[in-house]
Amino acid sequence: MSGNHRESNRQIVPFKAKVIEPIRLIPLDERLAVIERAGLNMFNIRAEDVYIDLLTDSGTGSISNAQLAGMMMGDESYAGSRSFHRLAETFQNLTGLPYVLPSHQGRGAEKVLNSVLVKKNRVVPGNSHFDTTKAHIEFAGGRCVDCTIKEGKSSQTMHPFKGNVDLEKLRATIDEFGPKNIAYVLITVTCNSGGGQPVSLENIHAVSELAHGKGVRVYFDAARFAENAYFIKEREAGYEKKTIPQIVREMFDCVDGCTMSSKKDAIVPMGGLVATRDQGLYEALKVPTILFEGFFTYGGMSGLMMEALAQGLEEVVQEDYLVHRISQSRMLGKWLNEVGVPIVEPVGGHAVFIDGRRFFPHVPEDQFPAQLLCVEMYKEGAVRPVEVGSNLIGRDPDNGDNIRPALDLCRLALPRRVYGKEHLEYVVDVADTVRKTEGSRRSGLMFDKELPGIRHFVSTFKYV
Ligand code: F0G
Repeated sequence: MSGNHRESNRQIVPFKAKVIEPIRLIPLDERLAVIERAGLNMFNIRAEDVYIDLLTDSGTGSISNAQLAGMMMGDESYAGSRSFHRLAETFQNLTGLPYVLPSHQGRGAEKVLNSVLVKKNRVVPGNSHFDTTKAHIEFAGGRCVDCTIKEGKSSQTMHPFKGNVDLEKLRATIDEFGPKNIAYVLITVTCNSGGGQPVSLENIHAVSELAHGKGVRVYFDAARFAENAYFIKEREAGYEKKTIPQIVREMFDCVDGCTMSSKKDAIVPMGGLVATRDQGLYEALKVPTILFEGFFTYGGMSGLMMEALAQGLEEVVQEDYLVHRISQSRMLGKWLNEVGVPIVEPVGGHAVFIDGRRFFPHVPEDQFPAQLLCVEMYKEGAVRPVEVGSNLIGRDPDNGDNIRPALDLCRLALPRRVYGKEHLEYVVDVADTVRKTEGSRRSGLMFDKELPGIRHFVSTFKYV
């Protein structure tokens, strides 16, 4: 069935709307006032002042009728709820990981895992750690070393698996610090900060062999595991005929466990989990789970959300869903390309990333070109993207210097099962208009108030 979907050029949308949420475009003068009041920060805008919200694909998907039905059956028992067991069994069947601890969202899972595995000055090599992940590792006293392949650092280099780990760099990092000082190796699938780029199974196997050969654990940040599996099926020789669940299983067979934000591929508004094969570690992880999240059979999730999560895990590995999902991102990328908007290629799973430095070549790199593009897109059409670049990456925790990332990107993240072609056509028109009009001649941005912590959420900007 799904093979036929791809052979014909017709796009098959495997769902229809039954409940809708009204949205509205506020007029230009209001948009200008809104963005000014927000200090040119996308996170300070009220959602009702946004027309197309591409801030994130996290927790913003539409739930299915089966998820809603499951929620009605949610068991809210404090300990040992039926919904927890359904979730744990679904996850075990999918991944083979035996021990599952729910958490309130991905960063809760990160806090739990890192508070046990990371000690002062321990190192976590990986492929472009997500910002909360990096912050939790540093909070626990550790340090991240980015070992993404060099192709992943360029917006124009074509490579099927730009999220791959550079094996030589990984080997050198493990040797430099010594295996005892490596807390674990983290593979983020797909790699969000690098543009939603996938990691190949060949690379996952090789990382696993290398790390395990030196006695080092390997964990996934599995927020977008199903999108990664789809790219493997599509691009990696030998996997064309495998089903998505088979590929998912082979991916997880290579690792010792994972953290997961279930707000992404598990298509629920809230939730996450830590999973492991190590029974001793599982016992140790119960302590921070109970302290920070909740009893270890709910971890801050309600029973109804655990039901929806279990159902979401079953829906996200369906191939017709993934064919539509990935082709939607790709279609947005293609249309942006056609009107001359510079994007990261190939297009990743959950989002299209516009290259801020190429969009505004006259804006110096330290004047936040990608943040500027977010602001201009809001002004032009109440589209809300988010910056994934110099603002987000922040400062070096050791010397306080601004880090200059390889890419300064404006991310258009696609909520799952929410927007259709007309919405995306509108977004392309907005980006094209910014490119063609005075929006493209704006000066860069500087901080008005730079606030510490994860600064991109809270700082404000002004035009230079
Ligand atoms: N890991 C990755 C790869 C992520 O993309 C995120 C969140 C997290 C971990 C943390 O999960 O939000 O449930 O606590 N990414 C969101 C985004 C916020 O917009 O990309 P969380």
